[in-house]
Amino acid sequence: MMNKNIFVACDTSSLKEIKKIINDTKTNKLQIIPKFGLQFFYSKGGRRFLENFKSDYFLDIKANDIPQTALSAVDSLKDLKKCKYITVHANGGLEMLKAIKKKAKSINKDLKVLGVTILTSLNNKSLKEIGHTKSVKQLVLKQAGLIKKSGCDGIVCSAQEAKIVKKKFKKLFIVAPGIRLPGDSVHDQSRVMTPNYAFKNKVSGIVMGRSLIKGNIKNNIKRLINHLNQ
Ligand code: C5P
Repeated sequence: MMNKNIFVACDTSSLKEIKKIINDTKTNKLQIIPKFGLQFFYSKGGRRFLENFKSDYFLDIKANDIPQTALSAVDSLKDLKKCKYITVHANGGLEMLKAIKKKAKSINKDLKVLGVTILTSLNNKSLKEIGHTKSVKQLVLKQAGLIKKSGCDGIVCSAQEAKIVKKKFKKLFIVAPGIRLPGDSVHDQSRVMTPNYAFKNKVSGIVMGRSLIKGNIKNNIKRLINHLNQ
């Protein structure tokens, strides 16, 4: 199970809660990497905490701006030496993806850039509302190609599309959010899957927030280990 990356979404602005999540998700049975999002990064003390954080982490910045602004934002992260993954929206276009990858490489050669395709909270109906004419699957596949072309290191999509993406882009590193342990509430997510199904669909890593951090965290980790052993 150690080759399965589990990114724990530390979605809170409370330092105390962050410390508890990190402590309670510790286990030698899984490869756990904390993922910090904008909620924590924007919070008072959030960035400072990350400046001094001692193990590798994922910073979900979801950059999406004109190339110069986006790359400058990434440049501002150069002191965060333990940050090993950042995210960028594929919607920002090829030039922005390329600019971010180039900048990331120059500030830290171990920093991986993951391109976010269609958010896991969206479905075909929401895409229509935005003005897209393609389905979720078609768009994810299209954007996966764009991300690959840009030289970025991997993509973020739901585990529901992972199989078709992997079929076309065999070596692509795929991280899937929208993961729920069996029986857990989907909340605001649309395209969800269990951890076992996600890994069966060949994702390289899964992002888990509420299924792990709500309720008894240690118990949730036990449930996850049991589930992965099934
Ligand atoms: O609580 P839950 O497991 O739904 O949390 C999912 C996490 O993954 C959140 O931190 C969210 O920002 C992130 N994420 C996502 N969908 C994406 C990219 C990131 O849900 N496409």
